[in-house]
Amino acid sequence: MKKIWIFLTLFFAFTTYSSWIYTGATDYGTVMTTRQQLGKKIYQEYNCQSCHQIFGLGGYLGPELTTAISDKTRGEAYVKAFIENGGGTRMPNFHFSKEQTEALVDYLKYVDANAFSYKNTTPNETEK
Ligand code: HEC
Repeated sequence: MKKIWIFLTLFFAFTTYSSWIYTGATDYGTVMTTRQQLGKKIYQEYNCQSCHQIFGLGGYLGPELTTAISDKTRGEAYVKAFIENGGGTRMPNFHFSKEQTEALVDYLKYVDANAFSYKNTTPNETEK
């Protein structure tokens, strides 16, 4: 008789936990907009990752871009101006259009908004 209660307790715990996990416990962060997807495509097509890292992955010639948007010393306006004006001395000038630049910045915004571990925050804190 004791065994059935142990079984029921474990079964109940398992089903409760499973339904919690599968109905949204990991469902945080934001969904990519069409423009952010375009930005990601440009980022990949122009091989930005050969020189830059996002979430630690990529080349090391250029700076890490994961939190470029929320950084106090960089920020959106700086990133936009940088890409628009064709980089610095070592970064090539890609001659991006206004739309391409905006899509790239928008993609970097998406990355930044989901960089919880980099900013040492939890999803809930960031959403506030
Ligand atoms: C050949 C290597 C290379 C490639 C490819 C490259 N970059 Fe860069 N990038 C750099 C370097 C190096 C810097 C640092 C400034 C400098 O010396 O020009 C930089 C700086 C930046 C910055 C300023 C960030 C900061 O912290 O100052 C942004 C934003 C940026 N790059 C975006 C991009 C994007 C977007 C692409 C792809 C379209 C790209 N880069 C492709 C080398 C590269």
